[in-house]
Amino acid sequence: MKILFVGAEAMPFAATGGLGDVLGSLPTALAALPDTDVRVILPLYGQVADQWRAEMHDEAVFTVRLAWREQYCGVKSLVRDGVTYYFIDNEQYFKRGTLYGEFDDGERFAFFSMAAMVALEKLGFYPDVLHAHDWQAALSVVYLNCLFRDRPGYGAIRTVFTIHNIEYQGKYSFAILGDVFALDERCHALMDFGGCINLMKAAIVLADTVSTVSPRYAEEICTPEYAHGLDGVLRDNRHKLCGILNGIDYAYYNPATDKGIAAPYSWRTRARKGGNKEALQQELGLPVRADVPLLAVISRLAAHKGVDLIADIADRLLATQDVQLVVLGKGEGVYEDFFASLEARYPEKVRALLCYDRELAKRIYAATDIFLMPSKSEPCGLSQMIASRYGAVPVVRETGGLFDSIKGYWEKAGRVMGNGFTFANYRSDELLERTEAALCVWRDPERRDKLVSKVMRTDFSWGRSAQSYREMYEKLK
Ligand code: GLC
Repeated sequence: MKILFVGAEAMPFAATGGLGDVLGSLPTALAALPDTDVRVILPLYGQVADQWRAEMHDEAVFTVRLAWREQYCGVKSLVRDGVTYYFIDNEQYFKRGTLYGEFDDGERFAFFSMAAMVALEKLGFYPDVLHAHDWQAALSVVYLNCLFRDRPGYGAIRTVFTIHNIEYQGKYSFAILGDVFALDERCHALMDFGGCINLMKAAIVLADTVSTVSPRYAEEICTPEYAHGLDGVLRDNRHKLCGILNGIDYAYYNPATDKGIAAPYSWRTRARKGGNKEALQQELGLPVRADVPLLAVISRLAAHKGVDLIADIADRLLATQDVQLVVLGKGEGVYEDFFASLEARYPEKVRALLCYDRELAKRIYAATDIFLMPSKSEPCGLSQMIASRYGAVPVVRETGGLFDSIKGYWEKAGRVMGNGFTFANYRSDELLERTEAALCVWRDPERRDKLVSKVMRTDFSWGRSAQSYREMYEKLK
C-alpha cells in the first residue's frame, strides 16, 4: 500500500507546532508496518537546515501553472527511517522569515498543492491514498478531484483529510478564486462557506475519509461550541468522520536516553528525576530545593490553551502555597505581559520564559512535578503525553485529546487509578481545586511515587494509532 502525506511541516526539517511533530513521526510508525510505503511531501522552506539539504537528491524540475502564473518548481528528496520525504522547492514562495503567516499564504499553499499534484506524474509515483493535513494541504484534495482525475494514474487515488485544528480553515475572498486558486465558477458551491472561499470545508466535502486527532474532538467538532462555524458541514459528513489519537515520538522523547537533560532516568529509576529539577532550578536562578513542587506550563500563550485560567489562579496559588512555577512559551501580548509581571512579583517562585525552545522544553518536562494544561479546546495535545513520558503529572481539562489521554486520579484499595488530574468545566476554581489535589498527592511521597510510576508507564507511543490509520486506509480500497 502506497501512502502520500501532504502537509505544511514535518520534524526535524521545519516545524512550528504539533502538526510538525505528527508529520515527523506518524509516517515512520506507518512505514514500520508490513507492506506500507509512506512518503511525505512538504515545502522546502528556507528554514530547512543545510545538514538535510546535503542529503537531498534532485528528483525533477518543471514549471507549475497556476492561473496565469508559470512558476519554477524543483522536487528534492531524502529518505529517513524508511520514509521518503519530497521537498517542493521555490525560493520566492518558501524562502521567507516564517513558515506561515505571510501575506500571500493562499497563493503559496495553492502553489504547493498544485506542485504536489503535478509531481506525482513527474515522479511516476501514484499513491493508493493521498493523505492531506490541515488547510494548507486542503487544495491538493480539491485539485486532485477537480483538475487531475481524468489523467492517467490519478483516477484511483483515494483521499483522507485530517483536521489537526479546526480553528484555521483557510478563508479567502471569492475575488481570488480564478486568479490565485486557478478554479473556475463551477467550483463556486464547493469552495463556498458563508460567502467566502473556505479551503478546509472543500476538503471535508471531497475527501473519502475525514479524520481528526482524537475520538473526542471528532464528536466536539460536530457541535457549534468547537467547530468555528463548520459543525453543520461535519454533521453532514459524519458518516466518513473518525478520530484517531496521536502518539509521540518515543525515540525523541525518552528521558532514559535524552542527552539534553542533566540526569537521565526511566520509570524504574524515576528517583533520579530530582536531579533534573535541581539542574533547572540552578539554570533559572530559582531556589534549589527538592522539597518544593515545581509546576510548569509549556504552551503557546493563546486564550484557547486555557492560559487565562492559569493567569486567574496564579496569584491565589502563589500567595498561599510553597510552589515554583515555570512558564515557557510566547503568544498574545496580554499573557506575555502577565507572566512577566508575575515573575517580577514572585521572583523567588516564578520564571516566565517567553520563547519557543524545544531543548529547554525537554529540560523543563524532565524537571517538572506537575504539568498544567487546562485548554478550552484541544484537538489532541501532545504536551500532556510528553509530560507523562517525563513523569510530570498532568492537570488537564476534559476536552478533545486531553479527555482521551488523561484519566482522573482516584484510589481503589490503595491502588492508584488514573494518570493525572482532570476537570470538566472551563472554570478557574475547578483548575485550582485539581491543582491543589495534585499538590496534596505530591506531598505524600508514597502516593506520589505510585502516581508518577503509573503516569510514566502510560503508553503514548504510535503503535496502536498507526495500526488504526492503516485500517482506515484499508477500508478505502
Ligand atoms: C494541532 C492541535 C493539537 C494537536 C496537533 C497535532 O497543533 O492544536 O492539539 O496535538 O495539531 O495533531
